[in-house]
Amino acid sequence: MDNLYTHPEYYELAFAYRDSAAEQRVLEECIARHAGRPVKRVLEVACGHGPQAPAWLERGYAYTGLDCSAAMLRHARQRVGNAANAAWIEGDLADFELAEPVDFAYVLLGSLYAPDTGALHGHYDAMAKALAPGGLYVLEWCIEFEPFVDMVDSWRHTYGDTVVETLYTLTHLDRLEQTVEERVEVTAHEAGGARTFATSATKRVMYPQEFLHFIRHHPAFEFVGWWNDWDLDEPLDGAHPINRPLIVVRRLP
Ligand SMILES: C[S@@+](CC[C@H](N)C(=O)[O-])C[C@H]1O[C@@H](n2cnc3c(N)ncnc32)[C@H](O)[C@@H]1O
Repeated sequence: MDNLYTHPEYYELAFAYRDSAAEQRVLEECIARHAGRPVKRVLEVACGHGPQAPAWLERGYAYTGLDCSAAMLRHARQRVGNAANAAWIEGDLADFELAEPVDFAYVLLGSLYAPDTGALHGHYDAMAKALAPGGLYVLEWCIEFEPFVDMVDSWRHTYGDTVVETLYTLTHLDRLEQTVEERVEVTAHEAGGARTFATSATKRVMYPQEFLHFIRHHPAFEFVGWWNDWDLDEPLDGAHPINRPLIVVRRLP
C-alpha cells in the first residue's frame, strides 16, 4: 500500500471538506483577541500541503511551513506558486530551529506527532524558541479529551470523477506511556480503478488536566483558553460533544 504523504494530492482531497480560508479567518480573529504582539510572521507546524497558506499570503503575512515530508512540502510550495514570502522547512517538530522567531504559530488536526514524552517536551521547548514574546500558539485537537476510547471515523466525498473514501482510526497502544496509533487510509476510486494510500504514526497524548498542569508550570508559556469547534465564543467548559477544539497558549515575555 502506498504512503499517503508521498501522494499529497490524495491527502488534500481526503481533507478537502474543510473551509481553509474560513479557518484562517478564525485564526486571525484569535490573534486579534489574544495575541500579545503584532503579527506579521506565521508558522504552521506539520503543515502538510499548507491548507491556509494561500489565505495568509494573500492577506500579506509571511508564512513558514514545517513538515517532515519532502513530498508534502513540495506540493505545498506548488500550491502557492513559489510565493516569495513563503518559507518551507523539512524537519521534525520535536527538534527544529527557525532562523528568526515568528509572531504566531498553529498546528491543525491533532498533528502533534511526538512518539514519546521526550519528543513531546522537545516540541514545546522548540516552540518556546520559535515564538517571539507575546506570540500565540494555537493547537487544534492536540489534547486527548476522550482518554482510553478507541475511535473509528470515515467519510466519503466526490470530486469530479473521483470518489474519495477516508478511514480514520485511533487505537490505544500503551496506557501507561499514553501512546496511541493513529492511522489514515484513503481509497480513491477513479476511471482507472481504485488505489489505496495509508499512513500511521504513534503519538504520545496529553490529557486535559495534565496539559493545564504542564503549561502552567512551563517557564515559557501561559494558558490562554480553549474553545470548541473553531468557535471562539464557545469555550470548552460545558461543551458536548468536543469536536475540533482549539487550544491556545501564549509565549511569555
Ligand atoms: C494530518 S497532516 C496535517 C497537514 C495540515 N496541517 C492540514 O491541516 O491538513 C499531518 C502532517 O504532519 C506531518 N508530520 C508527521 N510527523 C511529523 C513530525 N514528526 N514532524 C513534522 N511533521 C510531521 C506529515 O508529514 C503530514 O504532512
